[in-house]
Amino acid sequence: MKYLYFISILLSIVFSTKCNIILKPEKISTTKAGFIFVQGAEIPAINYKKFALELQRKFNGSLWVVLTEFPLNTPEPVLVNNVMSSAYDLLKKNGFDFDKKTPFFFGGHSLGGIIVQDYLIKNFKSLPFNLIGLVLEGSFITRSNRSKKPSDFPAVLTLGGELDGLARLTRISEAFYHDSPQSLDTSMTLVVNGMNHYQFSGEGDRTSTIIKNDIEPEITNEQARDEITSIINSFINLKLNRKNEDDIKLLFKYANSTVDLVWPLIEGLNMEGFYHFNPPCSQGNVPNCTFGSPWSKQAQIYMGSIDTNKLNVFNEMRSVLGIPEHFPSISNCTKSTECLLNISTITQNVYSTLDSLDNGLFPVAAGEARAKMASRQAVLEALFNKKYNFNETDSSSICGEINQMALNWALKRAPLNTIKRYLEKGKVLKIGQDVGPEATGFQWVFTSLKFTELRDDKNKTFVEVRSPTLKTPTDYSIKAIAGVHYCKLLTPARAIEWIYIDSVKP
Ligand SMILES: *[C@@H]1O[C@H](CO)[C@@H](O)[C@H](O)[C@H]1NC(C)=O
Ligand SMILES: *[C@@H]1O[C@H](CO)[C@@H](O)[C@H](O)[C@H]1NC(C)=O
Ligand SMILES: *[C@@H]1O[C@H](CO)[C@@H](O)[C@H](O)[C@H]1NC(C)=O
Ligand SMILES: *[C@@H]1O[C@H](CO)[C@@H](O)[C@H](O)[C@H]1NC(C)=O
Ligand SMILES: *[C@@H]1O[C@H](CO)[C@@H](O)[C@H](O)[C@H]1NC(C)=O
Ligand SMILES: *[C@@H]1O[C@H](CO)[C@@H](O)[C@H](O)[C@H]1NC(C)=O
Ligand SMILES: *[C@@H]1O[C@H](CO)[C@@H](O)[C@H](O)[C@H]1NC(C)=O
Ligand SMILES: *[C@@H]1O[C@H](CO)[C@@H](O)[C@H](O)[C@H]1NC(C)=O
Repeated sequence: MKYLYFISILLSIVFSTKCNIILKPEKISTTKAGFIFVQGAEIPAINYKKFALELQRKFNGSLWVVLTEFPLNTPEPVLVNNVMSSAYDLLKKNGFDFDKKTPFFFGGHSLGGIIVQDYLIKNFKSLPFNLIGLVLEGSFITRSNRSKKPSDFPAVLTLGGELDGLARLTRISEAFYHDSPQSLDTSMTLVVNGMNHYQFSGEGDRTSTIIKNDIEPEITNEQARDEITSIINSFINLKLNRKNEDDIKLLFKYANSTVDLVWPLIEGLNMEGFYHFNPPCSQGNVPNCTFGSPWSKQAQIYMGSIDTNKLNVFNEMRSVLGIPEHFPSISNCTKSTECLLNISTITQNVYSTLDSLDNGLFPVAAGEARAKMASRQAVLEALFNKKYNFNETDSSSICGEINQMALNWALKRAPLNTIKRYLEKGKVLKIGQDVGPEATGFQWVFTSLKFTELRDDKNKTFVEVRSPTLKTPTDYSIKAIAGVHYCKLLTPARAIEWIYIDSVKP
């Protein structure tokens, strides 16, 4: 702590924060409001000037804007208090005589949105004006702040770009899910079609992170600027209690198109049993925890190769390495006809090691679901009470066939325009043969679901997905793992996230 304090003093001496940019309103009006905006990482504050001027122009009143500028253009928690104080001074010095009642809005792009939310959560009760809204652009309330945000915190408008390669639409969909029911009194998440991460500024050079990760936009910088300033202007009007049909209509229009875009992703994440919607019950007794993965149930039904009405699958999400180790099991049928088999299976979703950064840059869906299932042979034998040949029942790439089902699920759910882009410009997914069978459980656990870039006969790049498998016949010598068929599943969420985002990333 002392160390941070020292750095903070040092930095504030070396880089004084005189570089904050003030934009005085051109319009003189009795309706006055402030808007303080925090830059994204490495993006000079001046690159938001056109955005801010357009917002001022649209706003029917006097909007005082400060674009904050941090040293090295990188918003920094230890400096944020200093930068904000000097922004308030700058407004006073330039003639904005605000007091505790004056309405103020904050905004932030990308990392700026993360830094500003942290500052506001910590300080919103002691601000020298009336904070009534926060706008996050290509940014979102982080997982760690979700639970810390006080219930009387001002309304948050989260703005995403459909083709944002940094704050992915999947992460924005997670924000949407947690904002539900959407309400301007609390929180609302809206997405602009065809827009990418860069376009929240839309002027100046692209940073190296943006060049490396952002997706090609399908609207111009001017259109993007027009859309986001219109949305923010309507949000400000509503928060200022100015009843206006046009504002409500505009926000509804975006709310509708947002649902069309994010809903297929949310459905996919639900199928997966996404840990950041509701954590698995095995991770502790949290209210509304998720017991099993809906997709894993489908996988076992396919593995069994029989009607759903003959199987009763219980899936439990827990670590496949847990002690005691859990194995799939089949309850014995008592009658040979009209028998309903109970099968228990185990699934562990595995998220990117970078998932904990929660910056939206890395895949949000699970990279693989480790599924321990009962083999087809075991299911058939239990159901029909006779012997089946393991070489015939379980020799094909059944894991791959299940993964093809996940991909088909995603292709059917994604919006038409998304599919068109994926097929025309994207690296498409193709499901390959299963890998293995692995000799030991450890080998199966630590061999990942493989994503390999290859070229087809027209020299077009595609990505082959292959599942490591482990399978044993029912008469296998080790009883606990006799009659199992383990897969690394491509989840419907990962498949649809790939179609929307990864397939078209640089
Ligand atoms: C702007 O606001 C004023 C009141 O502050 C109102 O009289 C006027 O009609 C508004 N103009 C528009 C275009 O909404
Ligand atoms: C908000 O989230 C950021 C990033 O996860 C974290 O560093 C910060 O401590 C959080 N703020 C609060 C008040 O918990
Ligand atoms: C949004 O969707 C609702 C319900 O489907 C519909 O009633 C409404 O007219 C739509 N609004 C706009 C502006 O498209
Ligand atoms: C659990 O789910 C119910 C019903 O959807 C909801 O009303 C409740 O707020 C949730 N509780 C928590 C802690 O999320
Ligand atoms: C099923 O029957 C076999 C043999 O009768 C027995 O060894 C096994 O424990 C039974 N399994 C269950 C889940 O009841
Ligand atoms: C299967 O599970 C259901 C519901 O838990 C239970 O009622 C039934 O007795 C079980 N059947 C067998 C054969 O274990
Ligand atoms: C299954 O295949 C293995 C290896 O190909 C062979 O050794 C075994 O005899 C076969 N078992 C049956 C029941 O066909
Ligand atoms: C395929 O495309 C790559 C990159 O576009 C190129 O380097 C390579 O020479 C091409 N291969 C063939 C066989 O055309």
